[in-house]
Amino acid sequence: MRCDRIWRNATLATLAPDQAGLGVVEFGLIAARDGRIIYAGPLAAAPPLDAPEIIDCEGRLITPGLIDCHTHLVYGGDRADEFEQRLEGVSYQEIARAGGGILATVAATRAADEQQLVAAALPRLDALLAEGVTTIEIKSGYGLVLDVEMRQLRAARALMQHRSVRVATTYLAAHALPIEAGGDHDAYMTAVCETMLPAIQQAGLADAVDGFCEAIAFSTASITRLFAAARRHRLPVKLHADQFSNLGGAALAARFGALSADHLEYTDDDGARALAQAGTVAVLLPGAFYCTRERQRPPIDAFRRSGTKMALATDCNPGSSPLTSLLLTMNLGATLFGLTVPECLAGVTREAARALGKLDAIGTIEAGKYCDLAIWNVQRPAELVYRMGFNPLHARIWGGQCETSR
Ligand code: NIG
Ligand code: FE
Repeated sequence: MRCDRIWRNATLATLAPDQAGLGVVEFGLIAARDGRIIYAGPLAAAPPLDAPEIIDCEGRLITPGLIDCHTHLVYGGDRADEFEQRLEGVSYQEIARAGGGILATVAATRAADEQQLVAAALPRLDALLAEGVTTIEIKSGYGLVLDVEMRQLRAARALMQHRSVRVATTYLAAHALPIEAGGDHDAYMTAVCETMLPAIQQAGLADAVDGFCEAIAFSTASITRLFAAARRHRLPVKLHADQFSNLGGAALAARFGALSADHLEYTDDDGARALAQAGTVAVLLPGAFYCTRERQRPPIDAFRRSGTKMALATDCNPGSSPLTSLLLTMNLGATLFGLTVPECLAGVTREAARALGKLDAIGTIEAGKYCDLAIWNVQRPAELVYRMGFNPLHARIWGGQCETSR
């Protein structure tokens, strides 16, 4: 069989769902053609293969390329000043209620043009890519008016012209109520459902729609209107749910067959069961938990009992999670939430792909999928989770192309 490139002499963590645990294959081999995997498995079981380039991995570990399935990577300004206020004892919610928080970033984002948004996002993206990320989800939500929301989504898509990365964009329609709405959530939601969402869908700028269901943001009634509109426009939904209180966000997301419900610190057993039944992925964001000094942990045991799939993401944003490391995210997931090593690794690969509705194309090392891989200078998968601030990436492979080698 002809192929473009072969990686041999590697330990594979395929994450294939039909294999136990991480799907580890010793003495593994991966062959790629036209950007896709055509064989992945034991050398001994490989068909006859012929490639102009054969790479000896010298026993290194290969995982699927990492996927950051929840970020707010594109925004203007920063909020280091609020970080200092929080060190003085002011809470994230207090800052938001006083007109800071998300609204401070809205002002800075409105003041930036598309090029400036791209330029500001690139160093953050590079930090993620340097750790083997090959796909990233990016939300809007710092414009809150049509042209700026579109500008953010265009900037997110433009990143694909600058770097070899797959970007999934999400229209975060209900993130915060803009000041000009004068406190009228209903009128703002009418503008979203009747004007903004249809225009963004028409322009093909969003792969999904998201909202923030919380006392400091939008009620379940508002989110229900948003999700009904998304359904009319055939866009899948996601939800920032149950982060600071239990408004029943997880159950609401499940009712609409959401791709994911994210945060979930205050989700109860019923919410966990609803997610499992709907096949909605629980996206856990330990960076936001850590930065807001939250005490209540998401109900991991209830997720395990109910069979809810769990993903892990950075939630990279200027306020509650200025985090640009998926390796550190795994460590936080293990240390703060008690996730196991296989749960952490699945959370940034297979389950993250599922949370984006892209499990058919990425997230595991299986024939037919894009050949997006991370090759690591480690022997055991646990080494990717237990360290803090150390990056053992050897090479990032995107679409079958070797990106970095050091
Ligand atoms: O995911 N929860 C709402 N949105 C972000 C925070 C955004 C911000 O503070 O700017 C989050 O935590
Ligand atoms: Fe978020």
